[in-house]
Amino acid sequence: MRFLVTAGPTREPIDTVRFISNRSTGKMGYALASVAHEHGHDVVLISGPTQLPAPNVTVARITTAAEMLAAVEAHIDWCDVLIMAAAVADIRPRIVHAKKLKKNMSITEIAVEPTTDVLMSLRGRKGRRIFVGFAAETNDLEKEARRKLQDKGLDLIVANDITLNNSGFESDTNQVVLIDRYGVRNELPLLQKKDVAITIVEWIEEHHA
Ligand code: CTP
Repeated sequence: MRFLVTAGPTREPIDTVRFISNRSTGKMGYALASVAHEHGHDVVLISGPTQLPAPNVTVARITTAAEMLAAVEAHIDWCDVLIMAAAVADIRPRIVHAKKLKKNMSITEIAVEPTTDVLMSLRGRKGRRIFVGFAAETNDLEKEARRKLQDKGLDLIVANDITLNNSGFESDTNQVVLIDRYGVRNELPLLQKKDVAITIVEWIEEHHA
């Protein structure tokens, strides 16, 4: 199968030196890209800024949410599977200043606007493709994950409680609950991200028509 995997954060510039971003390191998405490749699939990895060594797959590097959307759109017809592991910024500054903002400009607020939701905007182009999303939550983990599964028209959602120790952002391990569109729930123990990735790739292999 052809896997399109996104990973890492996006950065939304404020001026030439500053940006809005988040704590994603890309480890979960990179693990998914590696495991899919090891399982013999063709993989394109769309990566936000990370410090990680590139896995042995085609990598497209992007910075902003708008670039992430464009890169996913450019590959959507090609892929059989889309895994959105990236932590795409939900907001961006309304104005990007071409020069560094200075202290003496006494800035007290930065106006922001929403970015486009990649999964939501691609719902109509899903066809027989498998779409997998992540839900990184601090509250109502499974309720929020089920809402996102439904709203974004996904086949599988990986619910990630980011308040747990050794789980979520920056960690090498992750503790997640997989919830699929048939309502099947699979609560995994604390595992290496690579082992979480194996479980997700195996679910996809079993469910792709
Ligand atoms: N996602 C996306 N495009 C965005 C934001 C998120 O495609 N602009 C994807 C993420 O890659 C993830 C899923 O949507 O697979 C859920 O992301 P998450 O940040 O948990 O949820 P949000 O949709 O941003 O909702 P909320 O802010 O209510 O948590």
